[in-house]
Amino acid sequence: MKVLVFSAQDYDRQFLDWANQTAGHQLRYLDVSLDEQTVKLINDTDAVCIFVNDDITDKVAQEISARNVKSIALRCAGFNNVDLEACQKLGIRVVRVPDYSPYAVAEHALALMMALNRGIHKAYCRVREGNFSLQGLMGFDMHGLVVGIIGTGKIGSVMATIINGLGCRVLAYDPVLNTNCSDVEYVDLASLYAQSDIITMHCPLNCDTRHMIDRRALQQMKKGVMLINTSRGAIIDTRAMIEELKRGQVGYLGIDVYEQEGDLFFRDLSNEVIQDDVFERLLTFPNVLITGHQAFFTRQAMENIARTTLNNLSEIEQTGYCGNEVGVEKISVC
Ligand code: NAI
Repeated sequence: MKVLVFSAQDYDRQFLDWANQTAGHQLRYLDVSLDEQTVKLINDTDAVCIFVNDDITDKVAQEISARNVKSIALRCAGFNNVDLEACQKLGIRVVRVPDYSPYAVAEHALALMMALNRGIHKAYCRVREGNFSLQGLMGFDMHGLVVGIIGTGKIGSVMATIINGLGCRVLAYDPVLNTNCSDVEYVDLASLYAQSDIITMHCPLNCDTRHMIDRRALQQMKKGVMLINTSRGAIIDTRAMIEELKRGQVGYLGIDVYEQEGDLFFRDLSNEVIQDDVFERLLTFPNVLITGHQAFFTRQAMENIARTTLNNLSEIEQTGYCGNEVGVEKISVC
């Protein structure tokens, strides 16, 4: 199959080329992301392969279809950036990688938690400058704390196992109970907010979860709560978060994802003036730690992503069926 890969970084090329030695597709790479402007670059391809910040709106889907593209292969799990209804109407198949390494993401969430707690990001800079003062670096024992997990699917349930290992009490909220996630106490959202010292987000972004963490939710949490989000940026209302950080209601924030990350992440902007004032305000807080959507980024995850993405396209080409297809039934009712 002819496949045009958007948002292709060097590492994407490396892993996709490796997986393609057995898959045998014709791959072409573009480093730009796919949107209403760049859709015009599509020609002579059967499928496009996209990542988290490529934007398949209704209009983009129509343009893709007009250029005879029959499949969209997401090389990620989340599909909030694709208008599934538009794709279905146009007969465009959408496939994804639902399961490549829940460990990669859960372990990164843990890293954010630990770094924020013990001030590792500050200690790293201090020690390099010969400053060995411990002022402001005091953390807390994780053992005995209450950790709330929102979303106990693949990543959330790995997180539950890890957190249990630290000797914490683990509360969870998920509209669908996971029977494999036995080491958590399922509670309602209000109880999770009220009791947790740390809350970590592992639910998808959909119309139920967009801005789920808003001012009202934040004000129901324990004063000084630590919030970790490795899920999708728009789950948090960032402006409300800034207000609650300023008031001290939120004590720590660790995020790998950000609402407007499409304008920033996966690029070197170190010589440019960042125009996003909300993001820049977040960076000024000493108790905020941000990584640029790297939770998935382990060798094992990249191998699985590349292999599954190309397999998905092979299955569609050879059998017309793919188990990793995303249908409109995945859209939650607003
Ligand atoms: P999953 O589909 O296995 O689990 C998601 C869970 O969230 C399900 O159990 C579902 O019932 C639950 N859920 C749905 N709506 C909810 C709500 N309103 N409140 C609470 N829980 C709700 O997905 P998985 O693999 O665990 O991934 C979770 C999310 O993590 C993905 O949707 C994606 O957005 C994000 N992710 C981020 C990555 C990164 O690099 N930062 C990498 C991979 C995934």
